Amino acid sequence: MMNVALPKGRLGEKAYALLARAGYPCPDLLSDNRRLTFEHDGVRYFLVKPSDVAIYVERGAADVGIAGKDILLEYQPDIYELLDLHMGRCRMCVAGPKDFVDDHTRALRVATKFPHIARNHFGARSREIELIPLNGSIELAPLVGLSDVIVDIVETGTTLRENGLAVLEEIVPISARLIANKASFKFKETQIRGLMEGVRRQTDARA
Ligand code: PRP
Repeated sequence: MMNVALPKGRLGEKAYALLARAGYPCPDLLSDNRRLTFEHDGVRYFLVKPSDVAIYVERGAADVGIAGKDILLEYQPDIYELLDLHMGRCRMCVAGPKDFVDDHTRALRVATKFPHIARNHFGARSREIELIPLNGSIELAPLVGLSDVIVDIVETGTTLRENGLAVLEEIVPISARLIANKASFKFKETQIRGLMEGVRRQTDARA
């Protein structure tokens, strides 16, 4: 049995479609219920929060998974990154009010779900920051004076636009990756390579 951790939500739907095209269909994944595990043709799929995929794979509860590069950069899990899936594309950015100018008179207040990425980014520029860790609706922080700027994912840019914010700086482009547990890659190599090749054929066709 090969265990596959898949993200719920926006990225999840693209991921299930990709796996189906790659020869790993699991129609039950799309069923509208609260089940979290599904089995099909000797593969067990888990549905997890996108930010948790890497930990399931790192700890071997899942042999492979689909995770955003943002999560891999933030948590630095000890896994193999097998393929860039060229989907779930977005950008990790510094964003803030359109007319924001950093006057460097005090620590920059940065709200984010990605504290490690934010620290690295501003650390590399020797810019002192005060980190404000949040779990969602990050764009609200500069609007209500909780932070000066945010470090967050920008996909379509709609959330920024609708809140009168703008990208101030791009940190890194992001896309979804196929990842594998290191021990599983040794012990379930045939199965994992089978999945990887199926997926690669699909992603190469679309890259
Ligand atoms: C993410 C991200 C931005 C938004 C960007 O939030 O944190 O808020 O998507 O997408 P856009 O550029 O297409 O508008 P998510 O939807 O995951 O919700 P959250 O606020 O709960 O983090």
